[in-house]
Amino acid sequence: MAVTVTAHPSLALAKYWGKVAGGANLPATTSVALTLQALTTCTTVTLDTTDRVVIDGAEQPLERFLPVLDRIREALAASLTTEKSAPRFSVTSSNNFPTAAGLASSASGFAALVAAALHAGGGQASAPAVSRIARVGSGSACRSAFGGFTRWEATAREAVQIADETWWPDLRVVVLPVSAGPKEVSSRDAMNRTRDTSPYYPAWITDAPGIAREVEEGIRNRDIQRLGDASRLSYLRMFATMLSAAPPVVYWLSGSVQIIHELEGLRRQGVPAWETMDAGPQVKVLTDAAHADDIARRFAPLTSLPPVVSGIGPGPAVVDQTNG
Ligand code: PMV
Repeated sequence: MAVTVTAHPSLALAKYWGKVAGGANLPATTSVALTLQALTTCTTVTLDTTDRVVIDGAEQPLERFLPVLDRIREALAASLTTEKSAPRFSVTSSNNFPTAAGLASSASGFAALVAAALHAGGGQASAPAVSRIARVGSGSACRSAFGGFTRWEATAREAVQIADETWWPDLRVVVLPVSAGPKEVSSRDAMNRTRDTSPYYPAWITDAPGIAREVEEGIRNRDIQRLGDASRLSYLRMFATMLSAAPPVVYWLSGSVQIIHELEGLRRQGVPAWETMDAGPQVKVLTDAAHADDIARRFAPLTSLPPVVSGIGPGPAVVDQTNG
């Protein structure tokens, strides 16, 4: 059986930054996110005799994937009534955007992998089940198990959907890829370093819930100004903890900072445009349909790849299924 699934990255507007101690990939902060329709991971899983993962043509070390593949096997064993030997998975995945560069390829990647493997193994691939298992591979992947808008509560094992992809048809995100290269510090290492060494980390944890509530209210009221202002506070305070870690983590490049300043100028002229950033130099701009193409054109000279204008996307979807 070969099953092909597409999934989309989850862009947090209230950031998940910091893990609860214990190694289960549980967040110290509540994050609120949207699913980015224009960036897509496409993953095919075939039942096989050994585990194998190939991303964009490159064979991957299995270490990062085994905890997830083992959870999938456990879930399948629990849901199947007949006694079957534990399956192995051959996974082939490709992205229509740069991998591991701070564009949340791990979020869409793990969500697609888990959904495809559960389907291939004949199990239940409900969004909560995909969310719980995908989280083990990458925290933000638990949000990519859903389309639309999601909340992942601090210390929760799975995300929930707060509104589906039809909720806010006018909302757009302009993705500005400042650099296509892979990041030097993984989000996991950066989070742990921040928690262990930044004197501002406790303040971030105390402050984050209020921002997450404000972001969610912005979404519920389709109030782009409220959403944009709260999203900026969230990412800038997250970066304040990284910049104050020892040694500091500085993902920003000069292009990122230039875009931040130019957006300030645009807002002063009344253009609805608020940026957010993740564990990498890329800038994502929250705006509306009337302004998205202009923003993409304006910032294209500062990007390493063409800007991408995205609406709000769906959760993982099976696009092909063949009996091998
Ligand atoms: O899912 P991870 O472990 O790669 O961490 C994601 C961290 C941020 O992208 C910076 C924030 C978020 O909530 O997605």
